[in-house]
Amino acid sequence: MHKKKIITSDIKFPDGFLWGTATAAHQVEGNNINSDWWHWEKRKKLIPDSGLACDHYHLFKKDFKLAKEVLHNNAHRLSIEWARIEPSEGKFNKKETKHYINVLKELKKMGFKVMLTLHHFVNPLWFSQKAGFEKKKNVYYFDKFIWYCAEQFTGYVDYWVIFNEPNVYASMAYLMGYWPPQKRSILKAAQIIFNMAKAHSHAYKIIHQINHGAKVGSVINQTYYKSYRYIDMPLIPLYKFITNDSFIFLTKGNWDFLGINYYALHVVRWGDLFLKRPFPAETEKVQLREMTDLGWPIYPQGIYFVAREAWKKYRLPIFITENGLADKTDSKRARFIINHLHWLAQAMKEGADVRGYFHWTLMDNFEWHLGRSPKFGLFKTNFKTLERIPRKSAYVYGEIAKNNAIIL
Ligand code: BGC
Repeated sequence: MHKKKIITSDIKFPDGFLWGTATAAHQVEGNNINSDWWHWEKRKKLIPDSGLACDHYHLFKKDFKLAKEVLHNNAHRLSIEWARIEPSEGKFNKKETKHYINVLKELKKMGFKVMLTLHHFVNPLWFSQKAGFEKKKNVYYFDKFIWYCAEQFTGYVDYWVIFNEPNVYASMAYLMGYWPPQKRSILKAAQIIFNMAKAHSHAYKIIHQINHGAKVGSVINQTYYKSYRYIDMPLIPLYKFITNDSFIFLTKGNWDFLGINYYALHVVRWGDLFLKRPFPAETEKVQLREMTDLGWPIYPQGIYFVAREAWKKYRLPIFITENGLADKTDSKRARFIINHLHWLAQAMKEGADVRGYFHWTLMDNFEWHLGRSPKFGLFKTNFKTLERIPRKSAYVYGEIAKNNAIIL
C-alpha cells in the first residue's frame, strides 16, 4: 500500500487543536419566524427565502454525526436564535430553551468542544422594532438575554461568542443597506459599533459573573488589505482600523480569546471612497488571482498575515472561527483548505497562539440576501429532500482533522 508521508513537520498541529465547522442558526435551522430577517425576507419577497433552510432544527443529530464520522471533528461552532428564545419582549420560551439544551447536550454527548455564538446578524422582530442596537438604551434588552443564556446554557459551552462580526453587520445593514433594516448612514453604522461594543463588554461581565472560568470573546472578520497603487497605501491602516480593530479597541480587556473569520483579500483605493463604494472593488486589481464563485480573491497567505498581526497586537488565544469559500463544483475547496492551513501553521510556528480552525461551513445553507445559490458547504444540501451529500473536500478535511496534520 502507498505509504503516506507528512509533507513537512510544520504541518503537524498541536495536541488538543480544535477542528470543526461553523454554522449560524438562521442560515440552517429554518422557520425562524419571530426574527427581523424572516419578516424582511417576506416583505422583500426574497426567493428563495430562508424558509425551512436545511431543517437543522430537526436534523441536528444527523448533522453532528456527519461532523463526527465524516469530518472527524472534535469541536463545533453554532449559534442560537434570540428570536426563538425571546419571541416577544421579556417572554422567554421554555420549549425553545429546552430545544437548545438538547442540541448542546447532544454535542457534549458526542465529545465535541462547543463554541456557542449568541448573536449572528439576526434580531428578534420586537427588538428591531425598537431600533435594535441603534439605541444605546436597547443594550439593556441584550443584557437580559445574555443573563438568561448564561444561566441556562452554562455547563454545555466551552467558548462563548457574543457577537459574530459586528463590523460586517454594521456595514451590511446600516452602511451598504443590503440587510435589514437597510439603512445607509455612516453615523448609524458607527452607533451600531459603539452600542454593540458596550453590549459585548456587558455580556463579558455577565457571563463571568455566572461562571468565573468561562471563556468569552467575539468574532471579528479580519480582512487582509492590499493597496491598488502606491498612493492608495495610506488607506490600509484606515481600513484595518475601521473593520479589523475598532471593535476590539472599544472592548479592550473584555476578551478571553479572539475569533477570527478570514475569507479573502481586499484591494483598497481612494476612488472607492469618493465613489461612495465603501468596500473595495477587490476584483479589479487581482484578476489573475483565483476567485471563489462569488468573485472573492483566494489568498491563503492572508490568513498568516492576519493571525500573526492579531497575535502581536492582542496576545489573545486565537481561533479561526470561519474560513471557507463558495465553490459549487468543489474544484477548489480541498486545495483552499490545505493552503490556508499551511499558512496558518506558519503563523503558529512564528508564535501565534492559534487553538483551532472552524471551516465555514458544514452544509450549503441560506446565504443571507444571496439566497441559496452560493455553495459554501463541505456537504451539498439537496433543498428538496434535505439530504446532505458529502463533497470530496469533506473527506480531505476529515483526514486532516483525524490526523491532526496535513498528510500527503
Ligand atoms: C458570515 C456567514 C456567511 C459567510 C459567507 C461570514 O462573514 O459570518 O454568516 O455565511 O460570511 O458569506
